[in-house]
Amino acid sequence: MDKREVKIDYTVYENSCPSAYEVICRKAVEIIPNAYSIYSGFSVGAAVLLENGEIVAGTNQENAAYPSGLCAERTALFYAQSVYPGVKVKALAIAAFNKGIQTEDVVTPCGACRQVMAEVVKRYGDFEVIMIGRNRSVCLKASDLLPFAFTLL
Ligand code: THU
Repeated sequence: MDKREVKIDYTVYENSCPSAYEVICRKAVEIIPNAYSIYSGFSVGAAVLLENGEIVAGTNQENAAYPSGLCAERTALFYAQSVYPGVKVKALAIAAFNKGIQTEDVVTPCGACRQVMAEVVKRYGDFEVIMIGRNRSVCLKASDLLPFAFTLL
């Protein structure tokens, strides 16, 4: 038997965000009003910084048939890869408003979004994920969000 452990490093920024990613952090918050979240009242914004300097942002888009909706992170990542295929993702910032008020603590991505991020890591290499709350932000590597992610090739 060989007992192992997974260790995750993350950085907490009290009342701020990483200075290198201030622009996407602001963008993730600014785009939140574009969310379509009439069913949950939970509006999420995600902004992607690409290696070419472009910023692509998205929001959650809900549907009467609930599973047909899409989270903000996947909206932004799929959009970025559709418009700029082959361009590396450097960072992804995520923020949310619950019933009109920004969440106090950080918003952490769902499992499906983590699986999509794992594919982005496989495609272009690792990137930073910045999760934003009203009082703090947390920064970590996308590859640390989903240990044992599913891979095919
Ligand atoms: N949602 C996101 O867009 N991103 C997350 O990280 C968590 C959840 C959305 C899905 C749904 O529209 C709403 O938030 C409530 O779950």
